Amino acid sequence: MTRSRITGIAFHVPERVVTNADLEKLMDTSDAWIVERTGIRERRFVEPGVGPADLAAEAAKKALADAGRRVEDVDFIVFATITRDYMFPGSGALLQERLGLSTVGAMDIHNACSGFVYALATADAFVRVGQYRCVLVVGAEVQSTGLNLSTAGRDMAVLFGDGAGVAVVEPSADESRGVLSCVMHAEGAHAKDLWAEAPTSLVMGRFTQQMLDEGRGYPQMNGRQVFKHATTRFPEVILESLERAGHTLDEVALIVPHQANKRIGDAVAERLGVPPAKVFQNIERYGNTTAASIPIALADARDQGLVKPGDLVVLAAFGGGFAWAASVVRW
Ligand SMILES: CC(C)(COP(=O)(O)OP(=O)(O)OC[C@H]1O[C@@H](n2cnc3c(N)ncnc32)[C@H](O)[C@@H]1OP(=O)(O)O)[C@@H](O)C(=O)NCCC(=O)NCCS
Repeated sequence: MTRSRITGIAFHVPERVVTNADLEKLMDTSDAWIVERTGIRERRFVEPGVGPADLAAEAAKKALADAGRRVEDVDFIVFATITRDYMFPGSGALLQERLGLSTVGAMDIHNACSGFVYALATADAFVRVGQYRCVLVVGAEVQSTGLNLSTAGRDMAVLFGDGAGVAVVEPSADESRGVLSCVMHAEGAHAKDLWAEAPTSLVMGRFTQQMLDEGRGYPQMNGRQVFKHATTRFPEVILESLERAGHTLDEVALIVPHQANKRIGDAVAERLGVPPAKVFQNIERYGNTTAASIPIALADARDQGLVKPGDLVVLAAFGGGFAWAASVVRW
C-alpha cells in the first residue's frame, strides 16, 4: 500500500484580536488569572456572519499553494469541526462549494479536540488503499459565537478562539516519508465532562426555553477531570503511536499537541521527560481552537523552521468524548 504524506499545510485566523484585557471588560476575570492557569494572552474572534467553512476556504487555498497543487486537484474533503456552520449539512459540503469543487466528496468529523487527528487517519486510510489522491484535511472552528462571554461562563469563555488549519494529504513519492501511524481512542463514559447539551435531538424543538434560560447551549466542562485525564492520556497515546510506528521518543524532533492549555502541554513534556521546547505551544496567541489547533500549530511550527524534511513529528490530541488520538509523521 502507498504511504500518505502531508504535502502542504497552512492556517487562517480572523483578523480580530481579543486580548485578556478585552475579556476583563466583559466578565470578572483578569489577565493574570488567565495567563497563570492557561498560558493564553490573546485569541481571534470572527466578525458576525463568518463560519468555519469560510475560514477553512482561506486556509485551504494557502495549503494547496504550499503543496504546489491547484484546487481542481482535490478529490476528497475531510472536515473536522464541532462548531459547524449549520446543524446540517456538514461544513465539508459548504467548503466544497466555496472552492468550486463541483461534485467532489466531502464528510465531516465531529470529534472535538481530537477531530483533526481522526480526520488525518481517515484521509491516510483512503490514500493508502488508493481511493483518493489529493485530500484536504481540515480543522476549523468558530467557537466565539457559542461562548457565554459573561462571568457565569468565564471558565470556558477565556479558553477558546476561532481559526482554521488545512493539510493536503497525497500519496508519498518517498516511502520513508509520510504518515507512519495513527492511533485513536474514546471513552464515552466521560461524555458529560466536556460537552454542550443543546441543541439536542432528545427534546422537541431541539431547545426549550428553560434550556436557553439555564445556558445549557453553552459548552460545559469539568475542568479538573479534563486536566487529570489529559495529562495521562497525552503521554500514553504519544508512546503508543511511536511504538506502532516502530520509533522511540528520543528520535522525535517535535511533538505538536492539541493546544488545550499551556499547563497541560508543560505537564505532558514533564511526564514524558522531554525538554519543554520539544512540545510546540502557540496557545498564547490563538487560545484553544479545538479541531483547528493542531494544523494551526503544525503550520506555525513549520513556518518557524521547527519542522524540517526528514524530521519525526508526533501530532497528539485529547478532548471532548473523551476522545484522544496521535499520529507519527516523518516530515
Ligand atoms: C479550567 C482550568 C484552567 C481551571 O483551573 P483550576 O485551577 O482548576 O481552577 P478552578 O476551576 O478550581 O477554579 C478556581 C477559581 O477560579 C475561578 N475562575 C474560573 N474561571 C475563571 C476565570 N476565567 N477568571 C477568573 N477566575 C476564574 C473559579 O470560579 C474558582 O473560584 P472559587 O475558588 O472562588 O470557586 C483547569 O481546570 C484546566 O486547565 N482544565 C483543563 C481544561 C482544558 O484545557 N480544557 C480544554 C478542552 S480540551
